This record gives sequence, structure tokens and C-alpha cells, in this order.
Amino acid sequence: MILVTAANGHQGRYVVRKLAAAGYQVRAARATAGRDEELLELGASEVFVGDLADPGTYARAVEEVDTIYHVGPAGAPSEVQMGMVMIDAALQAGVGHVVFSSVLHPHVDILQHRYKCEIEVALIESGLSYTILRPCDYMMPEVHVDVPWRTGEFPVFWQETTRRLHSFIAMEDLSDVVVKVIREQEAHFAAAYDLAGPDRLDGAEAARILSRVMGHPIRSEHVDPEDRLRAQWRSDDSHDLDEHRMEMLQSISRWYGQHDFIGNPSVLTWLLRRPPTSFEAFARARVAELRSTVPGLLEAGP
Ligand SMILES: NC(=O)c1ccc[n+]([C@@H]2O[C@H](COP(=O)([O-])OP(=O)(O)OC[C@H]3O[C@@H](n4cnc5c(N)ncnc54)[C@H](OP(=O)(O)O)[C@@H]3O)[C@@H](O)[C@H]2O)c1
Repeated sequence: MILVTAANGHQGRYVVRKLAAAGYQVRAARATAGRDEELLELGASEVFVGDLADPGTYARAVEEVDTIYHVGPAGAPSEVQMGMVMIDAALQAGVGHVVFSSVLHPHVDILQHRYKCEIEVALIESGLSYTILRPCDYMMPEVHVDVPWRTGEFPVFWQETTRRLHSFIAMEDLSDVVVKVIREQEAHFAAAYDLAGPDRLDGAEAARILSRVMGHPIRSEHVDPEDRLRAQWRSDDSHDLDEHRMEMLQSISRWYGQHDFIGNPSVLTWLLRRPPTSFEAFARARVAELRSTVPGLLEAGP
């Protein structure tokens, strides 16, 4: 049995679907009760509901589990606690392999990078058999394609500039790597993999790609972190923006405004044994889906 946490998150949904398709029994963990169908439909064998920052809850989640794929939910103030609790639970239960979803450059001064760095150190020191995955920025359809499709603007939320370069990774690629390291186990023990796609894009270049793909002009626009937060977490006015998430996003925005957030695609290419997905290929696939269902800026008319 494989435990996948943050199972209904951006990457969790891909990982659950692919592990199930590869024949694994998946226990998909989330916080909210009453919506098991969403994960069972992806192929999860079981849904586990509870706050994984609680030691007793994590201990129950790992019963009869051979492998943990641990993703700390984005913006959770208890992310470090959850990571430490996971390590204790894995040790107690004798879990054979822990795969930890970290982040590219966990050492830089961004709040949740510091959280992940702390968890990485504890994992390395734990004696568990582990693999650390360090993905760069996710390609997120709802942010990077759907928003430009509807508004004509590619939102960039880092401070003062849209010029900094970014590497992006497709969730299809990240989830393929997760399945591979879980299947091949020992070959990936004590490894930490930087995972970056082939692009190094600033806002203007991303907008140029989207213009080409969508067939009409897309502008790169600076947006306030709070607006970005609403888009990213699909929040609305009924959903309070909590202070910790805001602090976290401002910390990203500050660092991203001062530095490029780029990685090297060689490790991802080696793991996939194929070229990683480019931002343009990702955008083309999403636009093809949107064309058949959702009118875009021009199609919608005035
Ligand atoms: N976005 C990026 O570009 C990027 C890049 C690199 C790394 N990362 C990292 O990737 C991770 C997030 O990945 P994601 O966006 O795929 O996930 P996500 O969307 O943040 O995950 C949300 C999931 O976590 C569950 N959850 C929230 N609080 C919980 C709790 N206390 N106990 C148990 N489950 C809980 C939610 O349950 P419900 O479904 O019930 O609400 C939901 O299933 C973060 O650590 C982030 O820092 C992100």
C-alpha cells in the first residue's frame, strides 16, 4: 500500500491516478471529509481523511503502508510539523521507502523552502530509506493558461519586475518520476533530484508563447500577490485569505523579484528517458481542451 498525502492537490491528483494505473494500491490522504468520490474516481483504493500534523492521525495513515509519498500542502502553517510527524510515523511503522516532495533550491530564503529544507535534513538524519524530489515551478493550467485565455494577461506576481527567469515542470512529468522512483526503490535511495523542465522564461517570453498558441496577443502583467493567491487557491470572497499564506506568498514574491528561479533539465531528462514537456507543449495541450469547452477572450466577443 502506498500513502499519498495532499492527494487532491495539484500534483497529488496526477500521482494517485498514475500509481493506481500502474497497479499499486493507493491510500489517498486529504483533510476534508465527505468527498471521497473525487479520489476514488482517480483510482485510489482508500481515502484517508484527517489532519496529518497530528501524530496519532499520521500513525493511523501509515498502517500497512510500504511506501509514503509525502507532499506538504502548500501554505500549511504546520508543514514542518507534518514532515516531522511523518518521519516518526514512518520509523514506528517500519515503512520501507519515503519519497518526499520538496522544492528546487530548498536552501534559499523563501519561507516554505526553509520548511522543506528542515524536513530534508531530518529525513537524511532519520536512517529511513528516502528519495527527495525537488521540483521547480509547476505548470498550472488554471493559472498559466486559463487566466490568459480569459483575460489576455499572463499574471506575474513577483515584486517589481516581470523579467526574472523561471523553470517550469509539467505535472505529467513530475508524476511519471514519482511512479518511477517508487517502482525502482533502491536505485533511488539516498538521492535528491532537482527537477526542472527545459524552459527558462520571463513573463514576456511566456506571454509570447501563449500569444502564438492562442492566436491572439497575450500581455505579461504584474499582479498583486493577494490576487495571485485568490487565483492559485481558487479562493473566493467566502474563503478567508489567511495571514500565513499571504506571508508565504510575499516571501516568494520578494525572492523571485531579486533572483532567477531556474534549474537544469538534465536530471529530469535522465529520469524520464525522454525530453521533458516544454511550456509551449503544455500550453498547446491545455488550449486544445479549452477550445472545445470554454470560449476564450476573442471567441467570447464583447
Ligand atoms: N506550486 C508550485 O509551483 C510548487 C513548486 C514546487 C513545490 N511546490 C510544493 O508542492 C506542495 C504542494 O503541492 P500541491 O499544490 O500539489 O498541493 P496542494 O494543492 O497544496 O495540496 C492540497 C491538498 O492537501 C490536503 N491538506 C491540506 N491540509 C491538510 C492537512 N492538515 N492534513 C492533511 N491533508 C491536508 C488538502 O486536502 P483537501 O483536498 O481535503 O482540502 C488537499 O488534498 C507544496 O509543498 C508546495 O510548496 C509547489
